Amino acid sequence: MEAKKWGLVLGIITIAAAFTRILHILEAPEVQHALLGEFNFIIPGMLKLASSPGKDQQEKPLVILPNLTSCHESMGRSDLPVYCCPPMNQSNVAIIDFQFPDPSLPLRVRRPTHLLDDNYISKYKKAITIMKSLPDTDPRSYTRQANLHCLFCTGAYNQQGSNSPLNIHRSWLFFPWHRMLIYFHERILGSLIGDDTFALPFWPWDIPEGMVIPEMYMKAPFFHEARDFSHFPPSVVDLDYSCPTPSSEDYGCFESGLGPEDQVHTNLAMMYNQMVAGAKKMELFMGCPYKAGRGGLAMGLAP
Ligand SMILES: *[C@@H]1O[C@H](CO)[C@@H](O)[C@H](O)[C@H]1NC(C)=O
Ligand SMILES: *[C@@H]1O[C@H](CO)[C@@H](O)[C@H](O)[C@H]1NC(C)=O
Repeated sequence: MEAKKWGLVLGIITIAAAFTRILHILEAPEVQHALLGEFNFIIPGMLKLASSPGKDQQEKPLVILPNLTSCHESMGRSDLPVYCCPPMNQSNVAIIDFQFPDPSLPLRVRRPTHLLDDNYISKYKKAITIMKSLPDTDPRSYTRQANLHCLFCTGAYNQQGSNSPLNIHRSWLFFPWHRMLIYFHERILGSLIGDDTFALPFWPWDIPEGMVIPEMYMKAPFFHEARDFSHFPPSVVDLDYSCPTPSSEDYGCFESGLGPEDQVHTNLAMMYNQMVAGAKKMELFMGCPYKAGRGGLAMGLAP
């Protein structure tokens, strides 16, 4: 069962990464260099809201904040250290408080990848192409947005007042943090093509129609040569695909080897098991509290 849970976790992480290409921040040119300022505001503000107060009133509240001067090499995988720290000294531009969008503006409607039309796909392509053409010095660039995920999801910052790395995975910070990431990624893409109704697509890999990699991800500008071709259509994705870490005995990645029809049935059964039958408590789905100075409790299914 552990292997299955991890399979799901890895699946969700992989899919979220492939699908959103990570992000953050600042679409208006005049504020685009205020990245560090945004970090100071949005992320700690969010973490403060989501972290848990001390049990004892006398106790200092257990607030989790990133120590922005502690950025260091981080490890998503123990065999693959990465360095994704932003430039330390970005700008003197004042921090801009987040404003909710004007509710009278048209809503952005996210559509499933298997129902996108050519017109939408060409807009999405154009936006990603522009984003990938921005220099790394631009906080809206593809690389900088990918780095943002790297920073907070592989523990590149320590928590303030502690040597423990801050990692927003596997706790109740997982969902709100990634929503924030996608929210800004989507707004930046829209602003790059002058379309403030632009919405990211979503990949509904939990229904049979969505159980192959969307066609568009196999082509530029979405394509990446490091992808494993053996998973491309017509292969049905194995939602239980698992790659135990190098430290574990059974290191390696395992394919189910099932035919398409059996794979679809197995995927559906696994989704039911993981999301319905096996997730009776809120914590099992949303993740557990993240307390300052230590990692989130990993009893939940939160990725
Ligand atoms: C930071 O930027 C200011 C100008 O904005 C510059 O004077 C200073 O030398 C820079 N500091 C570092 C450490 O790069
Ligand atoms: C932040 O990190 C720096 C560098 O590691 C360290 O010197 C400083 O004490 C830390 N600050 C806090 C509040 O933890």
